[in-house]
Amino acid sequence: MMDLVLTKNFTTPNAYQVEVYEKTGGYQSLRKAFGMKPTEVIEEVKKSGLRGRGGAGFPAGMKWGFVPQNTGKPIYLCINADESEPGTFKDRAILEKDPHRLIEGSILCSYAIGCHTAYLYIRGEFDLPRRRLEEAIQEAYQKGYLGKNILGAGYNLDLYLHRGAGAYICGEETALLESLEGKRGYPRIKPPFPAVQGLFGCPTVINNVETLSALPYIIERGAEAYKKIGTEKSPGTKLFSVCGPVKKPGVYEVPLGLPLRTLLREQAGGLQDGKVLKAVVPGGSSVPVLTAQEVEQVNLDYESLQAAGSLLGSGGFIVIDEGYCMVRALTNLAHFYSHESCGQCSPCREGTGWSYQILKRMEAGRGEERDIDLLLDIGRKMSGATICVLADALAMPIASYIAKFRHEFEYHVREKKCLFP
Ligand SMILES: Cc1cc2nc3c(=O)[nH]c(=O)nc-3n(C[C@H](O)[C@H](O)[C@H](O)COP(=O)(O)O)c2cc1C
Ligand code: SF4
Repeated sequence: MMDLVLTKNFTTPNAYQVEVYEKTGGYQSLRKAFGMKPTEVIEEVKKSGLRGRGGAGFPAGMKWGFVPQNTGKPIYLCINADESEPGTFKDRAILEKDPHRLIEGSILCSYAIGCHTAYLYIRGEFDLPRRRLEEAIQEAYQKGYLGKNILGAGYNLDLYLHRGAGAYICGEETALLESLEGKRGYPRIKPPFPAVQGLFGCPTVINNVETLSALPYIIERGAEAYKKIGTEKSPGTKLFSVCGPVKKPGVYEVPLGLPLRTLLREQAGGLQDGKVLKAVVPGGSSVPVLTAQEVEQVNLDYESLQAAGSLLGSGGFIVIDEGYCMVRALTNLAHFYSHESCGQCSPCREGTGWSYQILKRMEAGRGEERDIDLLLDIGRKMSGATICVLADALAMPIASYIAKFRHEFEYHVREKKCLFP
């Protein structure tokens, strides 16, 4: 039986309360970490091979290693709990069910990078998670896990909760920083990268909730134990949120490298009665779609999905059945991305908007012959041409939905109606 790194407390009643969390072994990793030098903690995380779970998969220990220690400026940690990608709801499960695991992981990261002030940026719509976190932070202060001289180790850390106002773009790391500074959530041009010049111009690490929540296990059990799970290049476990017409939608922790079909059939229970699989979006709404045939051959790790022309992304697993129209699916996405574009870059502002207008027309049976190629052309001109990758997040689905399901788009244009009434 595989060790559960992230969800072992999900079935423990009231694990969000500090006393219950402590009984499950919570906060023990801090004592071990405080007996190590910060650089040793970074080394252990590097050795574990943990990769960021916010979407890009960048190695966590390596990112921490980029933080300059001698600038005389404070170093900040920003915990990214914005989670607004359609189909992705895995961080929310940690925030609601096991908030102390995230706090413990955040203390470990802060200690390693030399941070004494951390900010938790939470999606504005998350109400229960916010309440759970507020209580958990208060409990952690009362128990001496936060504040001055933590566990008598001479280390100080303050943790502040900051609520977003419901903008998807504020999950992008530099937009998050702008928003935290009290400004409009506009992504910044990189470089400089946040590790060197982040919050208030100071060195800053931004990590995802799931990334940080894996740290107590890694420090307590050691990098070797973590690496025993998953594959060589994609070690550990990953949370997947599964939605769509499956029998058991929900959040599942699986070892990386698991065949995609196993998650679909064994964890999510397969499709609802009478439904036939058409496609799966494996990593949140922005990654290329996989056909039912591809689903049979792909494993859930960074390398396999990339080799199959898609991405692991955030782990939001969207299942689409044979009765659902891909033109409608793409129209919904274009609506979302055009609405959430911050508008700074014209290829994104105009490209997402025009893609939506064209798709809406096509979906309503008023498409024109040149529309499919026009959409592809807009997608090509959006990708790689903007400050952040929100534009690519629509360009990738446009290219893959049309490449794999072109006949459905052609039917809409030719017959002026949907194949799936
Ligand atoms: C448009 C956009 C939205 C994003 N939203 C989130 C988010 O909600 N949560 C998150 O952790 N990362 C999000 N990211 C990725 C972050 O920019 C960043 O890579 C991540 O928080 C780093 O954490 P990690 O290294 O632990 O993965 C988003 C990126 C983009 C481009
Ligand atoms: S790509 Fe879009 S969302 Fe990102 S900065 Fe440019 S306009 Fe804003």
